[in-house]
Amino acid sequence: MSLFDAANGMRLPARRRVPLRGYRRVLVEGAEIGTVVIERATVADLPQVNETHRRCSAASRRARYHRPRESLMPTEWSTLCGSGTGGTWLARPAANAGRVLGMVSVLPCSNPSSWDFSILIDDAWQGRRLGTVMARHAVASTRAAGVESVEALVERDNVRSLKLLRRLGAAIRTCDASTVEAHIRLRRDPVVPGSP
Ligand SMILES: CC(C)(COP(=O)(O)OP(=O)(O)OC[C@H]1O[C@@H](n2cnc3c(N)ncnc32)[C@H](O)[C@@H]1OP(=O)(O)O)[C@@H](O)C(=O)NCCC(=O)NCCS
Repeated sequence: MSLFDAANGMRLPARRRVPLRGYRRVLVEGAEIGTVVIERATVADLPQVNETHRRCSAASRRARYHRPRESLMPTEWSTLCGSGTGGTWLARPAANAGRVLGMVSVLPCSNPSSWDFSILIDDAWQGRRLGTVMARHAVASTRAAGVESVEALVERDNVRSLKLLRRLGAAIRTCDASTVEAHIRLRRDPVVPGSP
């Protein structure tokens, strides 16, 4: 049985081995954990989410938050879950809802027409296409909500993240010596205030 993004109904080809630097990467087949489901996070998921943070390396957490982080506070997680607009999606084995393999958030922060994108995949699951599938899912959901664009702050040496964002059509611009901003346009025509 191959893994698939259940929310999109997209089945990925099954492979026994995942080459680290091969051109194509696919999720490993079900012998390991079976089907993976991507679904919206709720505030009740915080303990499992913090377990995932603890399993991740300090480098992964730093890449996600741009500062040392070990776990999330309830208020932060509640914000990441969203309240009607934007939110966080989690990937979990269908057979083990208590284990979170990855999380992706897209939320309006300072700019209501360009939402902030961030993602963290469990170290053991990095490089298996899970990040790509989750990012596509979150970006498609954000586009469907009528949002103009999404933005992500990324360390300039974060190769995986930059590849992933470029695949989604991101334009990359330098912020400072260590950080770049990825900008993904979701709508062809920007919304003009007052237009139908
Ligand atoms: C960045 C991250 C989300 C990517 O998710 P992932 O599931 O590991 O990545 P994927 O397997 O989907 O691969 C994404 C791209 O990186 C490439 N890649 C994967 N592993 C790689 C490696 N070891 N070396 C170079 N490229 C690699 C893939 O080939 C793919 O590029 P392609 O589409 O051009 O082939 C994940 O590694 C992560 O959570 N990192 C820590 C947190 C972070 O950096 N967040 C981003 C900032 S918010």
